[in-house]
Amino acid sequence: MIRQISPKKVTKKRTNTKFEEQLVLQTVRGMRDILPGDQPYWQQVRKVLEKRAVEYGFARIDTPLVEFENIFTRPIGEGTDIVDKEMYSFRTKGGDQVSLRPEMTASICRAYIQHGMSILPKPIKLFSVGPVYRYDRPQDGRYREFYQTEFDIFGEIDPILDAQVMQIAHRVLKSLGINNVQFSVNSIGTTESRKEYLRLLKAYFRSKKAKIPAKYRDLIEANPMRIFDAKDDKCMQVCAGAPQAIDHLDKESRDHFKHLLEYLDELDLPYTIDPQLVRGLDYYTRTVFEIYATDADGKSHALGGGGRFDGIVEMFGGEPTPAIGFAFGIDRLIMEMKRVKAKKYQAPQPRVFMAQLGELAKKKSLKLFAEIEQAGVLVAESFGRGSLKTQLRHAGKLGVELTLIIGQQEALDETVIAKNMMTGTQETVAQRKIVNFVKKNLKESAKLVKSK
Ligand code: HAM
Repeated sequence: MIRQISPKKVTKKRTNTKFEEQLVLQTVRGMRDILPGDQPYWQQVRKVLEKRAVEYGFARIDTPLVEFENIFTRPIGEGTDIVDKEMYSFRTKGGDQVSLRPEMTASICRAYIQHGMSILPKPIKLFSVGPVYRYDRPQDGRYREFYQTEFDIFGEIDPILDAQVMQIAHRVLKSLGINNVQFSVNSIGTTESRKEYLRLLKAYFRSKKAKIPAKYRDLIEANPMRIFDAKDDKCMQVCAGAPQAIDHLDKESRDHFKHLLEYLDELDLPYTIDPQLVRGLDYYTRTVFEIYATDADGKSHALGGGGRFDGIVEMFGGEPTPAIGFAFGIDRLIMEMKRVKAKKYQAPQPRVFMAQLGELAKKKSLKLFAEIEQAGVLVAESFGRGSLKTQLRHAGKLGVELTLIIGQQEALDETVIAKNMMTGTQETVAQRKIVNFVKKNLKESAKLVKSK
């Protein structure tokens, strides 16, 4: 057990002329270790993501954790929680103002332009997996360092792609064993068509100013749509009567949304229209959606969200490029997998155990281990253990099919005792023939298991 020292107890101790801080053997608040016991869930998620990405034609992209700060602040927008409160930003020794990425979309758009991807055949489908950072208040399922996976499609405006990314999200969840899924979907129009809507929205919120808590009032003029995001009862009451973006769409956005809903019906995706859904990032245009899992008590758990971001590439100085995508919070996916007792990754089990007795045998077994492993056979060992009894007990626990024993005599004779753990039979084999012997023996034991 590691003794946990509260960060408050960090003291500075004078040693010679320097101050030395005491070590705090604890992760920073909101960040955590993902221990080996949990890794089978993470591995299962990675495996499913990579498989689905290939099937739907997505190529992987990895962008740095650190970008220039305005790569995020410009598209995500002032007045959003992410930009106003949650960015880890700092000036480097070289004087650059940078941030840890609070999301991946802006970075992927930057990479799209920087590497001239616009000349590639459209659509360009990219996916990514990795950590993101938000200085949010930590609680169950909400961390300051968390993991996202993102799927984005660049270069096509057709609403069929909006439906396709939602289909991929649904497919990923199903493959992970998460079936109780619901989408919320809305359209917030284009930046242009939203101007008139924003005027109406501001007028409405101004008329309700007294009912809006003081800390949200600045948003009325600065970014009125963000009031929809406020998790505050009073705001929610005011928002219930507010004009809705969906009633003020331009004709193209209305048609786009209508077609999207037709595709979703065709795909039989479980969705509801939520006219108050605006998403917490300013860059969205037209389609926005969120993905929830619902539990037996009807409680919803947010797993992911996305939408169109037709304006970011152009905002960054690239050609006008429509784009649509979504991200899942992987930590949330894993919480849900655990809740529904979904299948986790099963690591392949070793089929052979290598035991040794004495110094010379130890040396020989190290080399033989590598030879067998290079032939594609998973071998286990406990080289650090001297006692043959302990080693054989370990082999029994692992349930291997074959145990290879090199004692002092075998080490001198350059042989191995091979014990078939299923039949109990034992034979002596020359070390130089061991790889072929193991392969043949495992084939036979597989046949034996099949015939049982
Ligand atoms: P987002 O809704 O801000 O969207 O984040 C996506 C998901 O990340 C959330 O639905 C949630 O599952 C997870 N998440 C967010 N904050 C936390 C947290 N503090 N701890 C754990 N999980 C969290 C985006 O980030 C957009 N970039 C998505 C997108 C991709 N839009 C288009 N393409």
